[in-house]
Amino acid sequence: MKLTNIALGLFTAAAIFMVGCSATQTVSEESLGLRKTSLYTESDAMPVKTEYSKKAAGESKLIARAFENAPPMIPHDIEGMLPITINNNSCTGCHVPGVAESMNATPIPQSHFTNFRPDTALASNGMITKEGQEVENTSDFKTVGKKTAMVSGTRFNCSQCHAPQSMSKTPVNEFQADFRADGHSKKSNLIDNINEGVK
Ligand code: HEC
Ligand code: HEC
Repeated sequence: MKLTNIALGLFTAAAIFMVGCSATQTVSEESLGLRKTSLYTESDAMPVKTEYSKKAAGESKLIARAFENAPPMIPHDIEGMLPITINNNSCTGCHVPGVAESMNATPIPQSHFTNFRPDTALASNGMITKEGQEVENTSDFKTVGKKTAMVSGTRFNCSQCHAPQSMSKTPVNEFQADFRADGHSKKSNLIDNINEGVK
């Protein structure tokens, strides 16, 4: 009895499989890739051309922030401004607060004039001290942020975080940022909210 059941089951499965097979559509290999050209040759597979803005600083249009407190993309030409070296950082020349306003450039924000790394030392008793306070565990340290007179060393290399935006035709980014307030797509607020979520 059992055996007949199994045999019947197998027969039905085979029948369904065969019907399924006969209905299968063929897919051409050319249509398999994301690109719409042949997968067998590279001749037509040209990447999108990178086209950074050629507009000089002062003539470009700001690019909306990708999400709240995202590092803004550089909207202007940066030809001749890189690499940033210890003696030559042209970015600060225009973006440092005090100068930036008169140039219509966004001033470097307060977060970039803040050292978020507490002075840390290992005391002779094996304890760690941060800002002169003994702590058992680095994650116990509650104070973050100490004002710096100059742009904090951690922010000196602007192009580590801010990049120019290529304006070529690329796939559309469908990510929709949720800004918590109007204007956050144009202005950062990190320094006011840096302790958010820190107990
Ligand atoms: C000659 C002055 C000048 C120099 C040098 C300069 N910038 Fe700018 N920057 C501007 C101005 C002015 C704007 C505003 C847009 C415009 O008018 O082109 C701007 C806009 C920006 C923005 C967008 C800010 C926002 O609110 O969206 C970023 C980011 C930026 N610059 C980064 C840099 C970096 C990084 C460097 C160095 C590689 C640099 N800039 C060098 C003048 C300058
Ligand atoms: C470690 C990454 C990092 C470095 C290095 C860095 N930035 Fe930023 N920058 C950010 C982020 C993240 C934000 C947005 C949040 C904030 O304000 O800190 C930002 C914001 C900005 C803004 C927008 C300020 C506003 O009020 O909306 C300007 C202008 C800017 N940076 C310029 C610079 C310049 C010029 C340098 C180099 C001297 C630099 N940044 C170095 C990450 C960086």
